[in-house]
Order: sequence, then structure tokens, then C-alpha cells
Amino acid sequence: MLSALWKTDLIKSKYFVTGLDNSKKTASIAGMCGIIAYVGKEKATPYLLDGLQRLEYRGYDSSGIAVLSDEGVIDLQKCAGRLQNLRQQIGEQAVAGSCGISHTRWATHGEATDNNAHPHFDQSEKLVLVHNGVIENYQKLRDDLESKGHQFRSQTDSEVLSHLIGVFYDSADGGSSEERLVAAVRESLKQVSGTYGIAVMHVDAPDFLVGARLGSPLIVGLGKGENFLASDVSAVVAHTTDAIYLNDYDLVCLKGDEFKVERIDGGVADFQVSQVEFSAEAAELGDYPHYMLKEIFEQAESVENAFRGRLSDEEASAKLGGLQMSPQELRDVDRIVLVGCGTACHAAMAGEHLIEALARIPTEVEIASEFRYRNVPMDKNTLVFVISQSGETIDSLGALREAKRKGFRVLGLVNAVGSTIARESDGGAYMHCGPEIGVAATKSFTSQFTLLTLLALLLGRMRDMSVSDGQEIIKELRALPDKIREVLKQSDRIKEIALKYIDAPGMLYLGRQFNYSTALEGALKMKEISYIFASGHASAELKHGVIALVSEELPSVFVAPKDSVFKKNLSSIEEVKARKGPVIAITTEGNDELDRLADDVIYVPETIECLNPILSVIPLQLLSYHFSVARGCDVDKPRNLAKSVTVE
Ligand code: G6P
Repeated sequence: MLSALWKTDLIKSKYFVTGLDNSKKTASIAGMCGIIAYVGKEKATPYLLDGLQRLEYRGYDSSGIAVLSDEGVIDLQKCAGRLQNLRQQIGEQAVAGSCGISHTRWATHGEATDNNAHPHFDQSEKLVLVHNGVIENYQKLRDDLESKGHQFRSQTDSEVLSHLIGVFYDSADGGSSEERLVAAVRESLKQVSGTYGIAVMHVDAPDFLVGARLGSPLIVGLGKGENFLASDVSAVVAHTTDAIYLNDYDLVCLKGDEFKVERIDGGVADFQVSQVEFSAEAAELGDYPHYMLKEIFEQAESVENAFRGRLSDEEASAKLGGLQMSPQELRDVDRIVLVGCGTACHAAMAGEHLIEALARIPTEVEIASEFRYRNVPMDKNTLVFVISQSGETIDSLGALREAKRKGFRVLGLVNAVGSTIARESDGGAYMHCGPEIGVAATKSFTSQFTLLTLLALLLGRMRDMSVSDGQEIIKELRALPDKIREVLKQSDRIKEIALKYIDAPGMLYLGRQFNYSTALEGALKMKEISYIFASGHASAELKHGVIALVSEELPSVFVAPKDSVFKKNLSSIEEVKARKGPVIAITTEGNDELDRLADDVIYVPETIECLNPILSVIPLQLLSYHFSVARGCDVDKPRNLAKSVTVE
């Protein structure tokens, strides 16, 4: 696997250690249902609850824990709602037992109820399982099992798997309990189609865990006399930094002082123990009330981390060695496809403008979930980029695999080092923005934008971009962190604006050219965390329909810097004002043309046109943050969402 990992640049920051080599992976965040399992000498429960807390960003509608007590009984506790509910349920009554599995859920099959929470027993109640993923053929399997007398306690697809493993375990003959359990897991996984990351435990095989993965992330944490299974290294780094990133079709057996990784079919697994670099501080809230606010405020540093060590004054260009492409190969690229979901897709849309404007290479954006099922005709010199903060989004991964299947070179722009997309792509560049824990993406957007600027600069300078234009972009990139700090100073004022519109039924976001995607991203932030209707549009599209929505109650947020389309934006603002619509405008410092027109104006420092979105998106992030807090919403864990979506 080593060869598939990218070169990481030398960077110094509190998140990442200098000079990472390929065997060192930096802990970061991926998501959608979280699994943490423990086997060792200590009481399992505190380890599991702590791990669940760190994994809560992956899903938080219910949680559960199963510990094998010293008396050989499985104590299963689970309930709907936040982890706090589970903690209260367990109270002081945690059983003594040093082997356990646990789960925090984001519902796919079956509502968020106590019964649907994981872990799930098998029919005998001697086996428990936690599962992340989707068992696509669960209904048929369930019907078969029910016809044989099995009684299900939940509506989940996952419970089918625990029953199935139980059936194979009970019918296995010969061998130790541990061998029988492993054989039962192997046999059951042959029967299921879909995706899984699982952890399984059986009363007959104390202090023994089995895990397996296909399509859903699972890592092994190797401690001293204790071992872990988890969806993400962030759940275990407080206890160990030695981790194995399992590959699809890997199966692992764990005891406190032993581990064995094989293929599910019994073959030899190709794995390595990686040293995880992790600064616990990076994942802590510090003095901030919410992760989202902390991450918004980290952007001066995270943007700098994205370009640090990647600018060449001599060549007036960018250096992205991790792409693993020669200058000639880069010159031969005649089409680029950018793929992503959610915020990453908005960054891709910005990237399309950047690459076409700066490098003059035809570029298209594909929503990952559409791309993977659409037979997009692509020229052989097409380069595909998959953009993903977590590196685990299943639709983005599916798009990557589809493009690779067709023989295209696929590169990744990813934050989570060692994540599946990072490993499966042919090369790429890391964002280096540190853990992003707030569900609404903020700093990852500006980091993605920065990387795409570097890419456009690199490709442009290999084509017809002049030295002076290259130098100008480099100079402006370097100036961004200080300008971001200037924007952040306006947080309190933006809060006042948010409070002024606190009863708004919705918001429109408008921008054009480089800032069309900024408008889309601003609207996404608002709806994600405040639950009001918000939609983003190209400003001039107003008159083709959206203007029908304009009223005295509905604010329009215009991203209108003093750029080549400012006058056009101005006309659109006039059209809204003529219909008594309130206007919040983001524009460039020193531009007073909006003072008489807009109800509220937020100023961002001047920069070159193509980099303005990095500055303009920050007031939009702050606006949605303050709006959401004022409306009493759960900013970091908005309803129905998860940080990254590892199910289709
Ligand atoms: C989820 C998150 C979004 C994120 C998207 C893509 O929907 O809620 O904030 O933009 O996934 O995530 P990725 O990790 O692939 O960037």
C-alpha cells in the first residue's frame, strides 16, 4: 500500500509533525457511525465511552455498549439520543469486564430508537455485533432467518448479520470457540452484499474480538497489553499511536497482547503498522464554545498550511510533488474532471473557474454520486481529481473506483491522511488543515480552494501564464492569512447582523463568476446548521425565477466584491431593493458604492479576483454560525447530518 500514499510536504504546524514519511499517518476525521472496541486488562467501559465521544461526529442519534463481564455475561446497554443518555443509563453501574464493543449511530435502516441502536445480539444472546455500513440484501436474509424461527428486536439491517454469525457459530463443528467464531464471521460475510466495518464478541471466547471491513473504515490500535478496533484513529490516539489501517476484505482477530490480520477468505493480508502523528490539542475545543467557530478561526493557519512549502518563487509556480506526475505528463492533460460531495463539490466548482481561468484547461465538475453511475465520456488525457475532507465519503470513493476502472489517472485532494481515498488514488495533495470536527465544513473548504489555486497555478505556468501573473498569485496567496485575520475580527459585527435577521424564514445567496460557488456554500452552511431554507444562485439568475421569492421578510446575501462583475452584481442588488428585499452585501474594503443600497455591508480586504472567495466565504460561515447559535440549534451536530457519509 505504501506506494499509493502520497508524499507529504514538510510542514510545521501544531497539527502535523515535520517531515512525515509515508509510513507515518496523521490522525484525522472520517465518518458515519462510529465503532470502538477494547480488549485488554483494564475496565473496558471508560475506554469505550471515551472513544465514542471522540467518534460522535460520525453519527449521534443513538449509541450503545456491550461488555463481557468477569462472570461471563454480556452486559448490553443502548439507547436513543446523544451519548450523554447512554452515560446516564450506565451511571455508576458499569460492569467489570475488560473486553467490549460499542457504537454511535447515524440511522440508515430503522429510526433512531433504543432497539435500533447497536450493539445487536444474535438469537442466542451470546454474541454481539456492531456494524457500520449497509447490508443491502438484509431483507432476504432476514426473511430466511425468520422462517427458521429467529426473532429480531430491531428494524436494522445490521441485526441480520449478528444472527447470521450466530447461526454459523452454532453449527460449526470442531475447533476452539475462537476458531469457530472466526469461521462463522468469514462464512457470514460471504452471504452479505453491501458494506461493513464490524466488531464481534462472543461469551464463549472471552477476551477475544473479531473485526472485518469492506467499504467502511476500520483501524486496529495496538497498545501495550491492550488492543482496539475503531472507525478512526482519533478514538484511540489517547492510548496508542500504533495503528493498522485495515484494507477492504481484511479480517482481524484481537486479544490483549496478540493480533492477527488476514483476508476474509483466509488469504494473506498486506498490512503495516503505522505510527500515527496526532496532537490531542488539535482536536480539543480550547476556549471556543463550538468546534465550528474554532475551525472558522483556524483558517488563517489552515490556508497557510495548504500552501506552505508548495510555492516556488524561482519558477513563479506551485510544487505539488504528491501528484506524482512528470512535467510532461502534466502538460499532456487536456481535460480535468473534479469530483466531490457537499462542500467539496462547491470547492470543485470554484476549482473549475480557477483552472479554466488560470490554466485554460477545460474542466468539469461532477457530483460524485452522479458520476459513479453515469457513463461520462472521457478523453484519455483526462485527469480526475476526487476532493474529500474525510477521504471516506462513499460516493466520492465510488467515483474514484469507477474512474480508475476505466483506466483514468485519479488524484485525491484529501485532508485525512491514510484514508481510503488517499490510499486508493494514484497520487494527490493533502490539505493539512488538521481535524475538522464540526459537521458543517468550514476550514476544509478554504483549504480545498487553496489547493485548487495551487493546481491551477502549476498547470497555468506550464502553459501560457506569464511569470508576472504567477508571481502575483504567489504574492496574494502569501498575503491571505493576514487578510483572513482581518475578516475574522468582524465576527461580533456579523453576529449583530445575524441577530437582526433572526426571524427570517429563509435566505437567498447570490454571487457570480468566482463567487457563484461561494454563494452555494454560504447557503449550504445556513441550511445545514440553522434549518432555515436557503439557496444559492448565480446573481443574474435572479430575474429568471428567484426574484419571485423576494419580499420584505426574505434577506438576500450578495457576494459582490469590487471585481470585473461588480457592476452586474450591483444591478441585481438594485432589482432586489426595488422589491423591498433586505440585502446583506459582502464587498471589498474601500468600496462605498453599496453603502446607500444594502442594508448591511461586510467588508473584506482587497485581493486578486480569483482569490476573493477565500475571504468572502468567511463572513458567510460566521453569519450562519451566529444565526444558528442564536436560534438555539446544535451547531456542531446538526440534526440528521453526519460529518462524512460512508453509506450510499
Ligand atoms: C457530508 C458533510 C459535508 C461534506 C460532505 C463531503 O455531507 O456533512 O459537510 O461536505 O459530506 O464530505 P468529504 O469528507 O468527502 O469532504
